[in-house]
Amino acid sequence: MHDELIIGIDLGGTNIKGALVDSGGHIISKQKAATLANTGPRAVAERISRIIGDLESQAAAAGKKVAGIGVGIPGQADQTRGTVFFAPNLHWRDVPLVEYLRSRTILPVYLENDANAAALGEQWLGAGRGSVNMVMITIGTGIGGGLILNGSLYSGTNGSAGEVGHMVIDPDGPLCSCGQRGCLETLTSATAMVRMAKEAIDQGKKTILAREENLEARDIVMAAQAEDKVALLIIDVAARYLGMGLGNVINLFNPDTIVIGGGVSKAGDILFEPLRREAVKRSLEAPARVVKIVPAELGNDAGCIGAAKLVLLTAD
Ligand code: BGC
Repeated sequence: MHDELIIGIDLGGTNIKGALVDSGGHIISKQKAATLANTGPRAVAERISRIIGDLESQAAAAGKKVAGIGVGIPGQADQTRGTVFFAPNLHWRDVPLVEYLRSRTILPVYLENDANAAALGEQWLGAGRGSVNMVMITIGTGIGGGLILNGSLYSGTNGSAGEVGHMVIDPDGPLCSCGQRGCLETLTSATAMVRMAKEAIDQGKKTILAREENLEARDIVMAAQAEDKVALLIIDVAARYLGMGLGNVINLFNPDTIVIGGGVSKAGDILFEPLRREAVKRSLEAPARVVKIVPAELGNDAGCIGAAKLVLLTAD
């Protein structure tokens, strides 16, 4: 295994990322494609297969073997059947992803929730190094949660633990892709921030965001850093909702570290100050006293590196 490489895939609501990784977690090469979830699971699987094929060829060209493929998926994985049980933001239910990928590769394929994979990555080589009880939160199309408890990934009875994004924060809030109302991810995900920005623009509020054609959360972060009032308010509202969710997480798990990942986590103090303040306000004193809330260190690579770590852990 030490000489072999691993393929880590991070299937997101917007992009599919793939990386060829060595056993020390170093990325040898990367690939990316749009998810285009509306084209259906088979077409998405085909795009993942193409990335895997390219990375396998690169490994072969370097004279290396690939030990296996780890795939982080934005939902609950049924590892025994190799299926995606439910991925709300892809609108997938019971998708036999391993079978679809199997038609193009003979390598072993391991599925895991994307935030669980990111948690493994950050614990291995990122902001969670040395942490014993760590919670990973990913802010993207949805909100993901991954739990490292007593040093190991805790995935629950059937692999669906840590679904922080579907914690109900406002029962009368916006409709969530899971079917409930007011889930944390409807209030604080990248998607939610873009929705808030569009609402503000529609209401005629003065903001530089009105100039953007395809508004993304990163534009809101940049506008907030340039002191755009609407963008600052959006980040503040999202941070406070997230802080509320984290208060519950802190009370439940008494973690030493909460790692916040996803593009928005690069926003710095404008996000982390209200977030930390609200999280402390919403949690009990003892667990609040010890928890550190920090940005992820592996950036966009956490999911792929963690998916590769999954292969190392499973194959060991
Ligand atoms: C899903 C999670 C996933 C998260 C981030 C949520 O909607 O329920 O399983 O980790 O989105 O992709």
